[in-house]
Amino acid sequence: MIRTSENLYKNGFLILNNCIDQKIINNIAKKINETLLKEIIRLKLKKKKNLTDNFNQLIKKISQFEIQKKLSKDLIDANLIDKIFNQKKLLNNLISLLGPDLSYMADFEVAISSKVNKVNDYYFVKKFHQEFWSGMGLESLQLWIPINLKKGMGTIEIIKNSHEWGHIPHQNREPMKLPKKYKTYKVNIKPGSVAMMSALTLHKTIKNNHNEIRIALPITVRNFHYPNYGNSDLFNFKKFNQSFFTKFRKKLGNSQLTAFRTKSINDIKNLNGDHSS
Ligand SMILES: [Fe+2]
Repeated sequence: MIRTSENLYKNGFLILNNCIDQKIINNIAKKINETLLKEIIRLKLKKKKNLTDNFNQLIKKISQFEIQKKLSKDLIDANLIDKIFNQKKLLNNLISLLGPDLSYMADFEVAISSKVNKVNDYYFVKKFHQEFWSGMGLESLQLWIPINLKKGMGTIEIIKNSHEWGHIPHQNREPMKLPKKYKTYKVNIKPGSVAMMSALTLHKTIKNNHNEIRIALPITVRNFHYPNYGNSDLFNFKKFNQSFFTKFRKKLGNSQLTAFRTKSINDIKNLNGDHSS
Protein backbone atom coordinates (compact mmCIF):
# COMPACT_ATOMS: atom_id res chain seq x y z
CA MET A 1 0.00 0.00 0.00
CA ILE A 2 3.02 2.27 0.46
CA ARG A 3 3.75 1.62 -3.21
CA THR A 4 0.17 2.68 -4.14
CA SER A 5 0.71 5.99 -2.41
CA GLU A 6 4.12 6.45 -4.05
CA ASN A 7 2.68 5.68 -7.51
CA LEU A 8 -0.12 8.18 -7.08
CA TYR A 9 2.32 10.81 -5.82
CA LYS A 10 4.70 10.14 -8.73
CA ASN A 11 2.26 9.70 -11.63
CA GLY A 12 -0.82 11.66 -10.50
CA PHE A 13 -2.99 8.61 -11.11
CA LEU A 14 -3.18 4.90 -10.37
CA ILE A 15 -5.24 1.86 -11.22
CA LEU A 16 -6.38 -0.31 -8.34
CA ASN A 17 -7.05 -3.70 -9.89
CA ASN A 18 -9.79 -6.14 -8.84
CA CYS A 19 -11.03 -4.23 -5.82
CA ILE A 20 -14.82 -4.46 -6.37
CA ASP A 21 -16.77 -7.72 -6.42
CA GLN A 22 -18.28 -8.47 -9.85
CA LYS A 23 -21.67 -9.07 -8.15
CA ILE A 24 -21.79 -5.42 -7.06
CA ILE A 25 -20.92 -4.25 -10.59
CA ASN A 26 -23.70 -6.49 -11.98
CA ASN A 27 -26.21 -5.22 -9.40
CA ILE A 28 -25.37 -1.62 -10.33
CA ALA A 29 -25.90 -2.35 -14.05
CA LYS A 30 -29.17 -4.09 -13.15
CA LYS A 31 -30.34 -1.14 -11.06
CA ILE A 32 -29.46 1.28 -13.89
CA ASN A 33 -31.61 -0.73 -16.29
CA GLU A 34 -34.47 -0.76 -13.75
CA THR A 35 -34.32 3.03 -13.44
CA LEU A 36 -34.33 3.41 -17.25
CA LEU A 37 -37.34 1.08 -17.50
CA LYS A 38 -39.22 2.99 -14.79
CA GLU A 39 -38.71 6.22 -16.72
CA ILE A 40 -39.73 4.53 -19.98
CA ILE A 41 -43.00 3.41 -18.38
CA ARG A 42 -43.57 6.86 -16.87
CA LEU A 43 -43.12 8.48 -20.28
CA LYS A 44 -45.22 5.81 -22.01
CA LEU A 45 -42.39 4.69 -24.29
CA LYS A 46 -41.76 1.18 -25.57
CA LYS A 47 -39.66 -1.09 -23.33
CA LYS A 48 -36.59 -2.61 -24.95
CA LYS A 49 -34.61 -5.75 -24.18
CA ASN A 50 -31.27 -4.34 -23.12
CA LEU A 51 -29.77 -1.43 -21.25
CA THR A 52 -28.36 0.38 -24.32
CA ASP A 53 -31.63 0.18 -26.24
CA ASN A 54 -33.55 1.39 -23.19
CA PHE A 55 -31.15 4.35 -22.89
CA ASN A 56 -31.53 5.15 -26.61
CA GLN A 57 -35.29 4.98 -26.22
CA LEU A 58 -35.32 7.33 -23.24
CA ILE A 59 -32.97 9.89 -24.72
CA LYS A 60 -35.66 10.69 -27.30
CA LYS A 61 -37.73 12.27 -24.53
CA ILE A 62 -35.37 13.46 -21.77
CA SER A 63 -31.84 14.86 -21.78
CA GLN A 64 -28.78 12.72 -21.06
CA PHE A 65 -27.96 15.09 -18.21
CA GLU A 66 -31.33 14.39 -16.55
CA ILE A 67 -30.91 10.63 -17.05
CA GLN A 68 -27.41 10.67 -15.51
CA LYS A 69 -28.62 12.64 -12.45
CA LYS A 70 -31.59 10.30 -11.92
CA LEU A 71 -29.35 7.23 -12.18
CA SER A 72 -26.87 8.41 -9.56
CA LYS A 73 -29.66 9.33 -7.15
CA ASP A 74 -31.22 5.87 -7.49
CA LEU A 75 -27.85 4.13 -6.99
CA ILE A 76 -27.24 6.09 -3.78
CA ASP A 77 -30.79 5.44 -2.52
CA ALA A 78 -30.32 1.70 -3.17
CA ASN A 79 -27.12 1.81 -1.03
CA LEU A 80 -25.11 0.48 -3.97
CA ILE A 81 -22.49 3.25 -3.74
CA ASP A 82 -22.06 2.46 -0.02
CA LYS A 83 -21.47 -1.16 -1.05
CA ILE A 84 -18.63 -0.11 -3.34
CA PHE A 85 -16.91 1.79 -0.52
CA ASN A 86 -17.37 -1.17 1.79
CA GLN A 87 -15.14 -3.32 -0.42
CA LYS A 88 -12.11 -4.29 1.65
CA LYS A 89 -9.30 -3.73 -0.86
CA LEU A 90 -10.69 -0.40 -2.07
CA LEU A 91 -11.42 0.83 1.47
CA ASN A 92 -7.99 -0.19 2.82
CA ASN A 93 -6.23 1.57 -0.05
CA LEU A 94 -8.28 4.74 0.38
CA ILE A 95 -7.50 4.70 4.12
CA SER A 96 -3.82 4.37 3.31
CA LEU A 97 -3.98 7.23 0.76
CA LEU A 98 -6.23 9.70 2.60
CA GLY A 99 -6.59 8.52 6.19
CA PRO A 100 -9.60 6.83 7.83
CA ASP A 101 -12.13 9.71 7.95
CA LEU A 102 -13.59 9.28 4.49
CA SER A 103 -16.54 10.65 2.56
CA TYR A 104 -17.72 10.48 -1.05
CA MET A 105 -19.43 13.18 -3.08
CA ALA A 106 -23.11 12.33 -3.37
CA ASP A 107 -23.74 14.96 -6.10
CA PHE A 108 -21.92 12.95 -8.73
CA GLU A 109 -23.44 12.08 -12.09
CA VAL A 110 -23.28 8.63 -13.70
CA ALA A 111 -21.16 9.12 -16.84
CA ILE A 112 -22.68 7.64 -19.97
CA SER A 113 -20.73 7.66 -23.19
CA SER A 114 -22.78 6.80 -26.22
CA LYS A 115 -22.03 6.41 -29.91
CA VAL A 116 -24.53 9.21 -30.56
CA ASN A 117 -22.64 11.77 -28.42
CA LYS A 118 -21.20 14.38 -30.75
CA VAL A 119 -17.45 15.04 -30.56
CA ASN A 120 -18.13 18.76 -30.18
CA ASP A 121 -20.50 18.22 -27.26
CA TYR A 122 -17.90 19.06 -24.62
CA TYR A 123 -20.18 18.10 -21.73
CA PHE A 124 -20.26 14.43 -22.75
CA VAL A 125 -17.02 14.22 -24.75
CA LYS A 126 -14.76 16.21 -22.47
CA LYS A 127 -11.51 17.76 -23.67
CA PHE A 128 -8.42 17.75 -21.45
CA HIS A 129 -9.43 19.25 -18.11
CA GLN A 130 -8.58 19.29 -14.41
CA GLU A 131 -11.32 18.43 -11.89
CA PHE A 132 -10.01 21.38 -9.92
CA TRP A 133 -11.67 23.66 -12.52
CA SER A 134 -15.12 22.53 -11.44
CA GLY A 135 -14.46 22.87 -7.72
CA MET A 136 -12.83 19.63 -6.64
CA GLY A 137 -10.41 20.27 -3.78
CA LEU A 138 -6.72 19.51 -4.01
CA GLU A 139 -7.13 17.33 -0.91
CA SER A 140 -9.52 14.96 -2.71
CA LEU A 141 -9.13 12.02 -5.08
CA GLN A 142 -11.21 11.49 -8.20
CA LEU A 143 -12.29 7.90 -8.80
CA TRP A 144 -13.39 6.52 -12.17
CA ILE A 145 -15.27 3.27 -11.68
CA PRO A 146 -16.24 1.41 -14.89
CA ILE A 147 -19.59 -0.41 -14.82
CA ASN A 148 -20.31 -1.25 -18.45
CA LEU A 149 -17.02 -1.34 -20.28
CA LYS A 150 -16.38 -3.62 -23.22
CA LYS A 151 -13.37 -3.98 -25.49
CA GLY A 152 -13.26 -1.20 -28.06
CA MET A 153 -15.32 1.29 -26.02
CA GLY A 154 -12.34 3.36 -24.91
CA THR A 155 -11.97 4.86 -21.45
CA ILE A 156 -10.30 8.12 -20.40
CA GLU A 157 -6.92 9.50 -21.42
CA ILE A 158 -4.57 11.03 -18.86
CA ILE A 159 -1.58 13.34 -19.32
CA LYS A 160 1.27 11.81 -17.36
CA ASN A 161 2.72 13.94 -14.56
CA SER A 162 0.33 16.82 -15.32
CA HIS A 163 -0.56 16.94 -11.58
CA GLU A 164 2.85 18.57 -11.06
CA TRP A 165 2.07 21.44 -13.45
CA GLY A 166 -0.21 23.25 -11.02
CA HIS A 167 -3.43 24.96 -12.02
CA ILE A 168 -3.64 25.12 -15.84
CA PRO A 169 -5.28 28.31 -17.22
CA HIS A 170 -8.46 27.43 -19.12
CA GLN A 171 -11.37 28.82 -21.06
CA ASN A 172 -14.56 27.20 -22.39
CA ARG A 173 -13.75 23.89 -20.70
CA GLU A 174 -10.32 23.46 -22.31
CA PRO A 175 -6.72 24.39 -21.48
CA MET A 176 -5.48 27.69 -22.95
CA LYS A 177 -1.99 26.27 -23.27
CA LEU A 178 -0.26 22.91 -22.93
CA PRO A 179 3.46 22.07 -23.14
CA LYS A 180 4.71 21.30 -26.67
CA LYS A 181 5.53 17.73 -25.68
CA TYR A 182 3.70 15.55 -23.22
CA LYS A 183 2.96 11.87 -22.75
CA THR A 184 -0.52 10.47 -22.40
CA TYR A 185 -1.86 7.19 -21.06
CA LYS A 186 -5.11 5.60 -22.17
CA VAL A 187 -6.51 4.08 -18.99
CA ASN A 188 -6.42 0.31 -19.37
CA ILE A 189 -8.99 -1.02 -16.94
CA LYS A 190 -11.72 -3.62 -16.50
CA PRO A 191 -14.96 -3.48 -14.48
CA GLY A 192 -14.09 -4.39 -10.89
CA SER A 193 -11.02 -2.15 -10.95
CA VAL A 194 -10.85 1.57 -10.10
CA ALA A 195 -8.83 4.43 -11.62
CA MET A 196 -7.84 7.24 -9.23
CA MET A 197 -6.35 10.65 -9.95
CA SER A 198 -5.55 13.95 -8.31
CA ALA A 199 -7.60 17.13 -8.77
CA LEU A 200 -4.87 18.52 -11.04
CA THR A 201 -4.37 15.49 -13.31
CA LEU A 202 -5.35 16.49 -16.87
CA HIS A 203 -7.66 13.93 -18.46
CA LYS A 204 -10.20 13.68 -21.27
CA THR A 205 -13.00 11.44 -22.49
CA ILE A 206 -12.19 8.91 -25.19
CA LYS A 207 -15.21 8.86 -27.46
CA ASN A 208 -17.10 5.58 -27.39
CA ASN A 209 -17.93 4.26 -30.86
CA HIS A 210 -19.18 0.87 -29.65
CA ASN A 211 -22.86 0.06 -30.23
CA GLU A 212 -23.40 -0.33 -26.48
CA ILE A 213 -23.21 2.59 -24.07
CA ARG A 214 -20.20 2.87 -21.77
CA ILE A 215 -21.12 3.50 -18.14
CA ALA A 216 -18.75 4.72 -15.43
CA LEU A 217 -19.08 6.33 -12.01
CA PRO A 218 -16.86 9.41 -11.53
CA ILE A 219 -16.85 9.91 -7.76
CA THR A 220 -14.80 12.30 -5.61
CA VAL A 221 -13.50 10.98 -2.27
CA ARG A 222 -12.10 13.19 0.51
CA ASN A 223 -11.03 13.00 4.12
CA PHE A 224 -13.61 15.20 5.86
CA HIS A 225 -11.00 16.45 8.36
CA TYR A 226 -8.65 17.76 5.67
CA PRO A 227 -8.84 21.51 4.98
CA ASN A 228 -10.83 22.35 1.86
CA TYR A 229 -8.50 23.38 -0.96
CA GLY A 230 -11.28 23.86 -3.47
CA ASN A 231 -15.06 24.20 -3.38
CA SER A 232 -15.56 20.97 -1.43
CA ASP A 233 -17.76 22.79 1.10
CA LEU A 234 -20.33 23.52 -1.62
CA PHE A 235 -21.02 19.85 -2.40
CA ASN A 236 -22.77 17.11 -0.46
CA PHE A 237 -20.43 14.48 0.91
CA LYS A 238 -21.53 11.25 2.57
CA LYS A 239 -19.29 9.80 5.26
CA PHE A 240 -18.44 6.13 4.78
CA ASN A 241 -15.57 5.43 7.19
CA GLN A 242 -14.52 6.90 10.52
CA SER A 243 -11.36 6.86 12.61
CA PHE A 244 -11.19 5.90 16.28
CA PHE A 245 -11.08 9.60 17.19
CA THR A 246 -14.22 10.44 15.18
CA LYS A 247 -16.14 7.43 16.54
CA PHE A 248 -15.06 8.23 20.10
CA ARG A 249 -16.17 11.89 19.82
CA LYS A 250 -19.50 10.75 18.42
CA LYS A 251 -20.03 8.18 21.16
CA LEU A 252 -19.36 10.72 23.92
CA GLY A 253 -21.96 13.01 22.38
CA ASN A 254 -20.36 16.42 22.85
CA SER A 255 -17.03 18.14 23.23
CA GLN A 256 -17.60 18.90 26.94
CA LEU A 257 -17.72 15.13 27.67
CA THR A 258 -20.82 15.61 29.85
CA ALA A 259 -22.92 12.65 30.89
CA PHE A 260 -25.21 12.91 27.88
CA ARG A 261 -23.99 9.61 26.55
CA THR A 262 -21.43 8.62 29.16
CA LYS A 263 -22.71 6.45 32.00
CA SER A 264 -23.28 7.61 35.53
CA ILE A 265 -20.36 6.50 37.76
CA ASN A 266 -22.85 4.43 39.85
CA ASP A 267 -23.93 2.45 36.78
CA ILE A 268 -20.45 1.35 35.83
CA LYS A 269 -20.10 -2.19 37.10
CA ASN A 270 -16.87 -3.43 35.67
CA LEU A 271 -14.47 -0.65 36.67
CA ASN A 272 -11.94 -3.32 37.60
CA GLY A 273 -12.82 -5.55 34.70
CA ASP A 274 -10.30 -6.97 32.30
CA HIS A 275 -9.81 -4.57 29.40
CA SER A 276 -6.75 -6.13 27.94
CA SER A 277 -6.96 -7.10 24.30
FE1 LIG B 1 -13.19 14.77 -15.46
